[in-house]
Amino acid sequence: MNTKVSIIGAGHVGATVTLMLAQRELADLVMVDIAEGLAQGKALDLTEAAPVLGYNCNIFGTNFYEDIKDSQIVVVTAGLARKPGMDRLDLLKKNAVIIKDITENIKKYAPQSFILMVTNPVDVMTYYALRLSGFNRQRVFGQAGVLDGARFSSFIAKELNVSAQDVKSLVLGGHGDTMLPLPRYTTVCGVPITELIKEERLNQLIDRTRNAGSEIVSLLKTGSAYYSPAASAAYMVEAVLKDKKSILAASVCLNGEYGLYDVCVGVPVKLGKEGVEEIIELELKPEEKESLHKSATVYKESIKELSI
Ligand code: 2OP
Repeated sequence: MNTKVSIIGAGHVGATVTLMLAQRELADLVMVDIAEGLAQGKALDLTEAAPVLGYNCNIFGTNFYEDIKDSQIVVVTAGLARKPGMDRLDLLKKNAVIIKDITENIKKYAPQSFILMVTNPVDVMTYYALRLSGFNRQRVFGQAGVLDGARFSSFIAKELNVSAQDVKSLVLGGHGDTMLPLPRYTTVCGVPITELIKEERLNQLIDRTRNAGSEIVSLLKTGSAYYSPAASAAYMVEAVLKDKKSILAASVCLNGEYGLYDVCVGVPVKLGKEGVEEIIELELKPEEKESLHKSATVYKESIKELSI
């Protein structure tokens, strides 16, 4: 294939993104991990699954960043995951060290690429990669809103006993406790969710969405979710490579949009072959805007802890 996507980190999220991208046959795939043999072993395993699953693309595992050369997109999944009782922001310092090294290598070996950040705390790591890379903000974006929206949609689908595909949700803000699910922009086949679920019950589903990552962490005990984060990242890669102009929530650096400056949080964007082609400014109610600002303040404070 002429297209190449690199995935940094061959852990649960990285390997699952690689599988989901292979099944889409969008690009040749390179998995990079610092652990000796991990990316190579998983790449080989995925290659051996191809005859059964029926995909055609090359999957290559390596310990060397030079192998990401000429990638159109680099998906960054490397870093520590949460353990029970931890907040995503507890990962800040340790994951920042990892992201710094990765970003420097992306800048060196794939200077024309897009960076799709998945590592937590994703909003801060997106900002960090943006500043360290010097790329423009169209080319550096974080995966969070697709996942948070998918979680909200899945809970609504179960509640109403309808197909999850018919539920369209919008969740803005940072990927953490301050995220902002927006029921009035959430619909089932075009019908506003506020007409289908009573407010009290809807608030319970909103709370569950905010805590959905922690719910899985406390069940798994040794790590965090990976199928749904990987599916969300693969969806975003596809939007770029197929120039889909998809409207979805992504963490991007705001430069006055929503009255916010110099901070990455989830907002609706148009994602296509130029990356973030547009930041969509919705008319928010005063209380929604206040919540979005509150969320952004948390991440601004965390950014201050990094030496940028
Ligand atoms: C989650 O919410 C890992 O942040 C990810 O599950």
